[in-house]
Amino acid sequence: MFSSELPHHDLVLCNARLVTMCEGESGYQVSAPTSIGIVQGKIAFIGDIQPQPERYDCQGQLVTPGLIDCHTHLIHAGSRAHEFEMRLCGASYQTIAEQGGGILATVKATREASEQTLTELALPRLDGLLRTGVTSVEVKSGYGLTLADELKMLRAAKALEQHRKVRVTPTLLAAHAVPPEYQGRADDYVDYICQAIIPAVAEEQLATSVDVFCESIGFSLAQTERVFQCATAHGLAIKGHTEQLSNLGGSALTANYSGLSADHIEYLDETGVNALAQSGTVATLLPGAFYFLKETQHPPIESLRQADIPMALATDFNPGTSPFADLTLMMNMACTFFGLTPQEALRGVTCHAAKALGYGQTRGQIAPGFDADLAIWDIDHPADLSYQQGMPRLTARVVLGELNHA
Ligand code: NIG
Ligand code: FE
Repeated sequence: MFSSELPHHDLVLCNARLVTMCEGESGYQVSAPTSIGIVQGKIAFIGDIQPQPERYDCQGQLVTPGLIDCHTHLIHAGSRAHEFEMRLCGASYQTIAEQGGGILATVKATREASEQTLTELALPRLDGLLRTGVTSVEVKSGYGLTLADELKMLRAAKALEQHRKVRVTPTLLAAHAVPPEYQGRADDYVDYICQAIIPAVAEEQLATSVDVFCESIGFSLAQTERVFQCATAHGLAIKGHTEQLSNLGGSALTANYSGLSADHIEYLDETGVNALAQSGTVATLLPGAFYFLKETQHPPIESLRQADIPMALATDFNPGTSPFADLTLMMNMACTFFGLTPQEALRGVTCHAAKALGYGQTRGQIAPGFDADLAIWDIDHPADLSYQQGMPRLTARVVLGELNHA
């Protein structure tokens, strides 16, 4: 049977075995070879379609939703390799931060770089992600910490779309660290974020969400709440770096503000789990940072499962805690370190990652009406994405209906 209601498609992928990752599915749903008809960047039809010129034969390969990296710090300058060496000799991430290294070291280098340089520096990092099937990437600010430098970072992030076929979601993370000029005056810096940075970002529509590093070396619960209040008042969504190094209750606060996601969450307790469950906030796991900081506290995966909380998975690519531009490697780490199933890991980088960015209705699933963001893989089974690493397995990515060969 052929579709008659949609005579023209801009692109047809035929002979594709679809791994649809639709919400509510249990287990993998891998289809028999079929076709996807794409119209104006959207999936218009799935099934048998009349042969037509704009046609790509997937030759029976697997097609998943394009992978979504929902938490990165791709834009920054400078290297922190020496801090890695210090940590290997016993210094802790917190100690290095308290001595002016860590995030503030990257702030110094990033302030000195131009917007164009920041974009250029991020391209090879982005290329790493694209090689692992990424079609959407979230990029945070947070190494500028002045109005001008935060805006510069957000613009540099968005400019990545002019250089590569990818969809970028910039997030404001002005509350990442207290900058040197506000040392000892964190509350004054929060005033500055609320009075100057958030209004400008909202006005210029440079970000859709606001994130806060709620931690002893970041911002207190009260300071985090002030940022969340201001962001909400400006119509921006909420995300949190919460319960990464200790339990301050930042995830529950994020949930109370109907946050899109609480990220890291190694130290999340039952109260936090219940709060996330109530608000529908996504729990984002960042196994790269867990591994690179040699963390021993595991996120409460079984409690998250029991509470039916969607778990997303991301690289957290950044120079201090997760220098890994590889999203399928994170799937592998989530399985080995956190005990996710490969199926949960794939959900974490597709439909659940979409939800963590507020795109749950348009991205991360293969279904009519969803954006035509897809990845075509030369693999036998979807679990291979979590299993083997480091080999080129991506055949092509489709971004808003446009085919890009790997
Ligand atoms: O997600 N935790 C705070 N922010 C980053 C680390 C940033 C850095 O060390 O440069 C993270 O792990
Ligand atoms: Fe992060």
